[in-house]
Amino acid sequence: MSICTIVGNWKMNTTVTEAVELVSAVASGLSSEISAEVVVCPPFISLVSVQLALHSSTISIGAQNLYHEMNGAYTGEISGGMLKNICQYVIVGHSERRSIFGETDVDVNLKVKAALGTGIAPIMCVGESLEERERGSANSVVESQVRGGLEGVDIGADVVVAYEPVWAVGTGQSASPEIAQAMMAHIRGTLEKIGGKDAASRVPLLYGGSVNAGNVGEYISQPDINGALVGGASLDAESFVEIVKVAASKS
Ligand code: PGA
Repeated sequence: MSICTIVGNWKMNTTVTEAVELVSAVASGLSSEISAEVVVCPPFISLVSVQLALHSSTISIGAQNLYHEMNGAYTGEISGGMLKNICQYVIVGHSERRSIFGETDVDVNLKVKAALGTGIAPIMCVGESLEERERGSANSVVESQVRGGLEGVDIGADVVVAYEPVWAVGTGQSASPEIAQAMMAHIRGTLEKIGGKDAASRVPLLYGGSVNAGNVGEYISQPDINGALVGGASLDAESFVEIVKVAASKS
């Protein structure tokens, strides 16, 4: 795994018009050959417009969530089947979904399976809170999120795991590369126990939490970090393009 994966999570930002403008600016900034897998995750209502805007680009599209059922009386929800011809990826279990919308590891597991079942690669987010880190339970919290979210799942290159310490998301307080690498090694070790060394080595591990063009290179240089999940800095085309270029040059 030498090519890195850089994912932009736009969260609940951008109108459809703004999403098309943003993705067009990103695509033109990355028009030269870049050795990175680049993924943008706009809000649901902009997915189709972004897909059209990206027609001949190699940039991939991700959704920010999905519901695990395929269709039916689930007002307001979106299924994997609806996303599959538009998205190659879907973010699952982001810390905001866990903390604001009460998603549990059981929900995350259902969503991971639903995504894989429709041919979409889940980007499963895990990460401890500040309180959990301070009380020394970061490793066990993250390990149980990984095990719970991947229960009964065949791991491999189509499952992506993003380590996003909650205290680093949107705070400007990014984890040090040492802290990030130590947790990634722990996650890789957990994946080895789940699916064996070979399968675990193929799972891309992304760091997320206040990533910017100034710090992304340090993360990508770590042995167990294969990419980044970028929130705030992905809303500015210039910063996101710069992040991708720095990351591609270090991987
Ligand atoms: P941030 O968000 O880059 O703004 O910290 C990361 C994320 O929530 O995925």
